[in-house]
Amino acid sequence: MVVGLLDGRVRSGAEPLLRPDDAGAMRGEGVFETILVQGGQPRDLPEHLARLAKSATMLDFQGPPDADWLHGVHAVLGAFPGGDLVLRLVSTRGPAGAPPTCYVTGTPVPDEVLRQRVQGVAVLLLDRGFAGSDAAAAPWMLTSAKTLSYAVNMAALRHARSMGADDVIFVGRDGAVMEAPTATVVVVRDRTLVTPPLDGILDGITVVRLIRAAQDAGWATAYERLTPDDLSAADGVFLVSSVRLVAPVTSIDEVPRPGAERAGELLDLLDAPPR
Ligand SMILES: Cc1ncc(COP(=O)(O)O)c(C=O)c1O
Repeated sequence: MVVGLLDGRVRSGAEPLLRPDDAGAMRGEGVFETILVQGGQPRDLPEHLARLAKSATMLDFQGPPDADWLHGVHAVLGAFPGGDLVLRLVSTRGPAGAPPTCYVTGTPVPDEVLRQRVQGVAVLLLDRGFAGSDAAAAPWMLTSAKTLSYAVNMAALRHARSMGADDVIFVGRDGAVMEAPTATVVVVRDRTLVTPPLDGILDGITVVRLIRAAQDAGWATAYERLTPDDLSAADGVFLVSSVRLVAPVTSIDEVPRPGAERAGELLDLLDAPPR
């Protein structure tokens, strides 16, 4: 791992960086973004910087300006010239009375990500414990911020793996499909692309890119309530996110499902030049 500081210095991932009293380490109070770099080019960097700032605002702190982040980003990119990698931008609230702790990491793209793009993922449907529609009444749940508090999401993934699956699709208490722990759910029906409404879930950057490109290519698109039955009936179900891009869902609760071959169409849409 390479670490870029916002003054442009580069460090090894083995060097200590956080104070023990940093609120990010003490309580998970912070925000982050993960960005895929292909051939030295970060994908959707302005959108990720905008969401990082929005997430920090939702936690009532202000991170550094974009220009400072770009120093950190370019410091890391310089260590992987022209390469493919994963960038992670992290901003904690910092220690009490001190400014946020901010850094950028660069790591190789994990083999598992590359494998899941091709082979797909077996998913379990898991109860989210609340309904997406509850989130508006409880904004402190921060469901639409990308915070460092991912312990619940990671626990769900470990549970799935202990049951022999690769990933999870959360279902709300109202029976509506929500999201995966690190991805947005997308359903394909013929030339229509459907994704759940944003209630109680993260506003994904990849799905927005996908929807725009699909519309440009003449597809119909919709944010629509989906149930597990809708997933079973779809031509294809996919998890989409910034680093994995598109992972076809090959089974749900151990029931195999078709449609994985349509992942290529979605990948092509994601590679269409942005509007
Ligand atoms: C909870 C959650 N939902 C959805 C996504 C997909 O978002 P994006 O496409 O912006 O990576 C992510 C990925 O970071 C996520 O963590």
